[in-house]
Amino acid sequence: MHIHPDARAVVRATAPDQPAILNRPHAAARAARFFVEKFPGKSLYAVKANPSPDLLRVLWDAGVTHYDVASITEVKLVRATLPDATLCFMHPVKAPRAIAEAYHAYGVRTFSLDSLDELEKIRVATDGATDLTLCVRLRVSSEHSELSLASKFGCDLVDARELLQQSRQLADCLGVCFHVGSQAMSPHAYVLALEKARAAIVDAAVTVDIIDVGGGFPSVYPGMEPPPLEDYFALIDRTYESLPVSYSAELWCEPGRALCAEYNSIIVRVEKRRENELFINDGAYGALFDAAHVGWRFPVRLLREGDNDAAGDAEAVDFAFYGPTCDDMDYMQGPFPLPADVRAGDYIEIGMLGAYGAAMKTAFNGFEAVETYTVSDEPMASQYNGSRRHLRTGDNVVSLR
Ligand SMILES: Cc1ncc(COP(=O)(O)O)c(C=O)c1O
Repeated sequence: MHIHPDARAVVRATAPDQPAILNRPHAAARAARFFVEKFPGKSLYAVKANPSPDLLRVLWDAGVTHYDVASITEVKLVRATLPDATLCFMHPVKAPRAIAEAYHAYGVRTFSLDSLDELEKIRVATDGATDLTLCVRLRVSSEHSELSLASKFGCDLVDARELLQQSRQLADCLGVCFHVGSQAMSPHAYVLALEKARAAIVDAAVTVDIIDVGGGFPSVYPGMEPPPLEDYFALIDRTYESLPVSYSAELWCEPGRALCAEYNSIIVRVEKRRENELFINDGAYGALFDAAHVGWRFPVRLLREGDNDAAGDAEAVDFAFYGPTCDDMDYMQGPFPLPADVRAGDYIEIGMLGAYGAAMKTAFNGFEAVETYTVSDEPMASQYNGSRRHLRTGDNVVSLR
């Protein structure tokens, strides 16, 4: 596999007409090692954040052995890519046939649920199996998170007692899980959720074997600089240690974003400029879903051939982006600060798109084509390289020569 030093080298070598996805396997491996070594329990990778088989292999090689899958397609993908991985089907609402196939054909033993109906579905689909690990998902607050996951899934405390007690009857191992929402900006989110888990366990008076604190671990983006992950791990550990769980209980987490955000950036080309709006060749239906639909800001830098010194001197100005489709909603407000003289034909690198970025690309309007390259430079921000450095104005132009 050819490894380019960075985005500049890719543009110089290929001048891509389509968006180019850049992989940074070293960054994903570093994130995985961090969780494997420092999280005080087991880390399951939430495959939905980025299901790239190359990434799955990087995480496996770095020591991640358990995978949170949400669909039968993810079950098959991970099983085909990593035959020895342990798969945990953590979507609380599953199709009966998906449960049966996962259990009987793919060796899945761990399932999450948030209702008695789902418990019955699992019982029937697995023919009353006695070797199940069942994780009851509690609804917890998303108040500390940038993206809420508090509405759709999770059982409320009033219903948790019966669900925990009935699940205990069927389960070989019983777990309690939750999700504090994605990009949780305070470790306190996990303390609040663990206190809710404590209340549910005490109320149901059942033996609990697994506490799964879910995903939500943050990455570094413009305008979002979370506390160090060590702070999250320390508070989770301390609160977990005081919970009334079985003496051999395990602590699990399911990071998606935190393991893969730094894995990808993309190179896009400016096809047109209209004042402070840039029409680029990727967007809301491509890798920039979150930039369009939830106003997420990603770091950007200009990669220009030619008069780089002039561009480097140009004052930074805030731009908005339009994507390539014919849809008005294909719009990303940003702001994305770039040198004032950006023009059609320029290339821009957009960073931190490994989580819910590269994975979201659709073929809408025929804009699915993409090239993928591997690069060896640092991601545009990182919480694992010791610097937690943000891109600053002046860093947002890179010479091609
Ligand atoms: C059940 C479950 N676990 C883990 C994750 C990963 O969350 P994050 O990417 O915020 O770490 C998700 C994301 O939606 C999820 O639904």
